[in-house]
Amino acid sequence: MSQKLRDSVVVITGASSGIGRATALEAARQGANVVLAARREAPLQELVGVCQSLGRQALAVPVDVTDAGAVEDLARRAAEHFGRIDVWINNAAVSILGRFEDTPLEAYRRLIDTNLFGYVHGARAVLPYFRRQGGGILINNISIFGLVAAPYWSAYASSKHAVRGWSESLRQEVRDLNVKVCNVMPSAIDTPLWQHAGNYTGRPVKPLNPTYDAENVARTIIACVERPRREVIVGRSGRMQIAMHAIAPRLYDWMVTRQTEADGFRPGTAPHSPGNVFAPLLEGAEVSGGWKEQGAGKPALQPSGKPTGRRIAGAVAMAAIPTLLGWFWLRPRLAGRT
Ligand SMILES: NC(=O)c1ccc[n+]([C@@H]2O[C@H](COP(=O)([O-])OP(=O)(O)OC[C@H]3O[C@@H](n4cnc5c(N)ncnc54)[C@H](OP(=O)(O)O)[C@@H]3O)[C@@H](O)[C@H]2O)c1
Repeated sequence: MSQKLRDSVVVITGASSGIGRATALEAARQGANVVLAARREAPLQELVGVCQSLGRQALAVPVDVTDAGAVEDLARRAAEHFGRIDVWINNAAVSILGRFEDTPLEAYRRLIDTNLFGYVHGARAVLPYFRRQGGGILINNISIFGLVAAPYWSAYASSKHAVRGWSESLRQEVRDLNVKVCNVMPSAIDTPLWQHAGNYTGRPVKPLNPTYDAENVARTIIACVERPRREVIVGRSGRMQIAMHAIAPRLYDWMVTRQTEADGFRPGTAPHSPGNVFAPLLEGAEVSGGWKEQGAGKPALQPSGKPTGRRIAGAVAMAAIPTLLGWFWLRPRLAGRT
C-alpha cells in the first residue's frame, strides 16, 4: 500500500465507467478514500460497495459537471465528509464522432461545456481547499487529442486542445501554492467511450488499433499522486503519433486519415445520435468497452499485411530520414548566416 495515498482523499469525476472507474479502484487498492462523481447514480453506488469491500471509505455524489454550482457542492460534500481533499481528478468527458459540417452546433457546444468547462469547474471548486490546506494535486485526464487530432473528432479534439492550454497556464499560476497540475494523455483505451459517443458519421464506430487497457491509465494517474509529472502520455502508439506529427505533419495527416477510414468503423450503418452528450445512457457502466475481446486490442492487419504499429514505425522512419538529412544539410548553412 502506498504511503502517500494511504488515507488520502481523492475526488474522481466520471467515475461511473471506463478510466474513472478503473482509477477509483486503483486508488482504493492503494489505500485512498474516494469520492465518486458522475451523472449515473446506480453505478457510483455499486462502486462505493466495491471500494468499501477493499477496506476504504467511499462517497458517491451524482453530479453533472456542466453545472458549476453542482461541482462546488461536490467539493463541499467531499471536504465535509472527509475533512480535506488531497487529489482532484478531472476525468468526466463526452465524445462526438462526426464530420465537422454534419455535427449539430448544440451538440458541439454541449461537448465543450462538459469537456472544457467541466474541468474548469472542477479546478475552481477545489483550489480554495488546496489554498487553505497549503497544497494539493490536480490531475487532468486529457488525451493525445490534446496534442494531435484525427478526422471526425474535431469537437473532441478542440475541447482537449483547449483543456491542455488551460491546464498549462493554470500550472504556472498555482506553482507557488504548492499545487501540482498533471496532464495525462492517453492513446486509444478500451472503455465504453465508443458506446457513449455521439455519432454523426452514419456508421457504427470503434477505437483504432492498438487499444490499451484502462488500468494502464489508472496506474499512470495514481502514479502522478506519488510523483507528480507535468505531462505523461499513455500508450506507445500515442507517443509515435505525437512524434510523427512533430517531425512530418503532412505525413501524419495522410496516415491518420487513411487509418481512420480503414480501422475506425464497423460494418453497417448507424443512425445519427447524440449518445450521452446531453443525458447519460444506461449501457456501458463497466471499465472495459469490450473492444479488445472483439479484436480491437491487437495491432490490426492492414491490407498490406503489416501490423498498424509497424506501419506507423515505418512512416516515422520515412519522415525522420529526410528531416535528419535536411537538418544536417541546413545547419552549417544557417550557422554561417548570423
Ligand atoms: N477511451 C479512450 O480511448 C480515451 C483516450 C484518451 C482520453 N480519454 C479520456 O478519458 C476520460 C474518461 O473517458 P472513458 O474512456 O473512460 O469513457 P466513458 O466510459 O464514457 O467515461 C466518461 C465518464 O464521464 C462521465 N460524464 C460524462 N458527461 C458527464 C457530465 N456532464 N457530468 C458528469 N459526468 C459525466 C460519464 O458518466 P455519466 O454518463 O454517468 O455521467 C462517465 O463516467 C475522458 O476525459 C476521455 O476524454 C479516453
